Amino acid sequence: MQYLQSNPKFRHNLIFTYSDKPKEAYIVASHSTFQVSQKDAQEFLKIRSFCTGYNEISAISEKSGISTKKINKILQSLYDADMFRRPARNLTLIDKSEIVNQLLVLSKMWGKQLEETYIAADLNAGDSTKNSLIGWLFETYHYIKNFPQAIWTAYKYAADTELKNVYAEYYRQEQGHEKFILECLIRLGFKQDEIVNSIPLVATRLICLMMDELFKYCPESLLLIANIIESNEDSTLDDFRSFRLSLEKKYSLPDGSLIALQKHSELDYQLGHASLAKKHEKFLYNITCEKIHILINLIHDIKHAFDAQSMEIKEYYNQVGNYIPRQPVDYFSI
Ligand SMILES: [Fe+2]
Ligand SMILES: [Fe+2]
Repeated sequence: MQYLQSNPKFRHNLIFTYSDKPKEAYIVASHSTFQVSQKDAQEFLKIRSFCTGYNEISAISEKSGISTKKINKILQSLYDADMFRRPARNLTLIDKSEIVNQLLVLSKMWGKQLEETYIAADLNAGDSTKNSLIGWLFETYHYIKNFPQAIWTAYKYAADTELKNVYAEYYRQEQGHEKFILECLIRLGFKQDEIVNSIPLVATRLICLMMDELFKYCPESLLLIANIIESNEDSTLDDFRSFRLSLEKKYSLPDGSLIALQKHSELDYQLGHASLAKKHEKFLYNITCEKIHILINLIHDIKHAFDAQSMEIKEYYNQVGNYIPRQPVDYFSI
């Protein structure tokens, strides 16, 4: 079919590249994944910035420096791959199972993306610094310490008693898990008091605030957030061990100093947090249609808050002169 749209706009899509496959790229969308050459992916990205639905092809060409002929060729292949934003319809006319399935797919997709882009991936690859690792541990400590509070918000706002029970259990299971990261930081030479009295970076606080906002708006969405943040269902216990060993080796840490980090991943994995959404999928059917668009946008923002946190950790913890860990500023410090 011929592509006709004059102001193109795409379905949400992500570009994945892998260092061991330098010539390939993957365009990932909720409906499918397409393998393309790196060159084609780069050209697509050059025009994608301007495909907001507000630019005609001539304007996209002017802004990107790519000929209209080439743009039309790219757009035609994306159209053939069903990559264009779908025409808006009344959500109440769409089968609820289709909507629930999309919610599960998008949360898994963003979880997978974070696996690739979150600071932990850089640390694992050895592409980061020891200061970034220390920063990541501190921020993870604060985040894990705050997470049960976010679960509690979802618990309070959930209307369904059965869902409340699921959340009460999740809350109980996650409470106190910061002790695992505390142990790692102590083994790396920090004092218990200085860890407990440190404060999180702004982005870490933002993640917690945004989760609170999301769970007040739609308590069922905690299941979707679990799909993003909990380790992948396909992970194995061996993955957690390799990750720990890789960090200790690459950043010259004492053997076993991060053992508690591994234990935490193993524990959450054994508690089945990665499959919470799938197991309790039926509650996602209770989300009313009028909430869907805003809810997806809020979840997308949280995914980006983790990206912002990665950037802030690298920036803050590697800047000479910044306090490690971050210190509160009170009346007497002014
Ligand atoms: Fe946990
Ligand atoms: Fe967990």
